[in-house]
Amino acid sequence: MTPVPAPVRIEPPVPAAIAEAAALLRHGGLVAFPTETVYGLGGDATADRAVAAIFAAKDRPSFNPLIVHVAEAHQAEALVKVDGRARRLMARFWPGPLTLVLPRADHSPVSLLASAGLDTIAVRLPDHAVARALIAAAGRPLAAPSANRSGAVSPTLAAHVAESLGARVAMILDGGPCRVGLESTVLDLSGPVPTLLRPGGIAPEAIEAVLGEELLHPAEDPAAPRSPGMLESHYAPGLPVRLDARSRRDGEALLAFGAAPADAALNLSPAGDLEEAAANLFASLRALDRPDFTAIAVMPIPETGLGLAINDRLRRAAAPRRAA
Ligand code: TXA
Ligand code: MG
Repeated sequence: MTPVPAPVRIEPPVPAAIAEAAALLRHGGLVAFPTETVYGLGGDATADRAVAAIFAAKDRPSFNPLIVHVAEAHQAEALVKVDGRARRLMARFWPGPLTLVLPRADHSPVSLLASAGLDTIAVRLPDHAVARALIAAAGRPLAAPSANRSGAVSPTLAAHVAESLGARVAMILDGGPCRVGLESTVLDLSGPVPTLLRPGGIAPEAIEAVLGEELLHPAEDPAAPRSPGMLESHYAPGLPVRLDARSRRDGEALLAFGAAPADAALNLSPAGDLEEAAANLFASLRALDRPDFTAIAVMPIPETGLGLAINDRLRRAAAPRRAA
């Protein structure tokens, strides 16, 4: 059966649309909104029903914990226990693409489903005026995973959200392309050693410089704790992905970085700039995910700064696929 394309409302982020979106959220509805990283699928983080609706809309296979978004740093204090390390990182990187996993505060209003029953909660203050206006207007923290079906490439444009979720979302606020283009860095501060659960928009080196200590990288230590959402195959386009490609094989689309062969289909950053490459990554994977190619071949990306997060997403896109 061919699914009937569902209508979806895409609105410019004018005050009237933000007010209407906030009202939808207060009544348990879901609204997709722009952040500096990727578009989020937002719901009231304090309402179990709204949080359950987020999992259902994404077809998440299990209840992975969600990030809770606030409009002002001080609002995090009612949700989680903020220690000195967290306070220093918030002062330096908030608003911005850094998510902190902290112990749940006593009397935290956040739904237990949002944190998947864990005694920690991930909090973030996005660096985007529309996101902050929406959270403030809703008057409550918003749980928001990336606004795509589970396992797919994260959306960096309103049109990506519409393609992926259709009418599963009540409204999409269109803030144009996301500036960073990769999800936030997730840092676990619930234990004695700060632990990098997901590389993202803030480079680990920058965090280490503020904390004055090295982060634990679970990716390099199989025994270390992991973010429950870090499934091996994730962020996957429909086509197979081949990494560290130096040239294009027959049928492939070559996704270049830096100086590129003439037959490259797209270039993440001709200048070899990692920030530019991060911002272009997901939109490029989507653009090349076409039936006239057999695979997407990606040129090597240096494993420094934002390159860590870019390579993390690319390795997941290239990982053996889970059964559907
Ligand atoms: O940039 C972003 O972070 C975007 C935008 C929309 O803000 N959001 C996002 O959310 O990427 P999501 O749900 O796709 O990823 C959340 C990540 C997952 O890897 C999840 O396992 C982890 O954060 N996480 C959330 N709460 C956690 C917790 N209490 N403990 C450990 N990991 C947690
Ligand atoms: Mg996601």
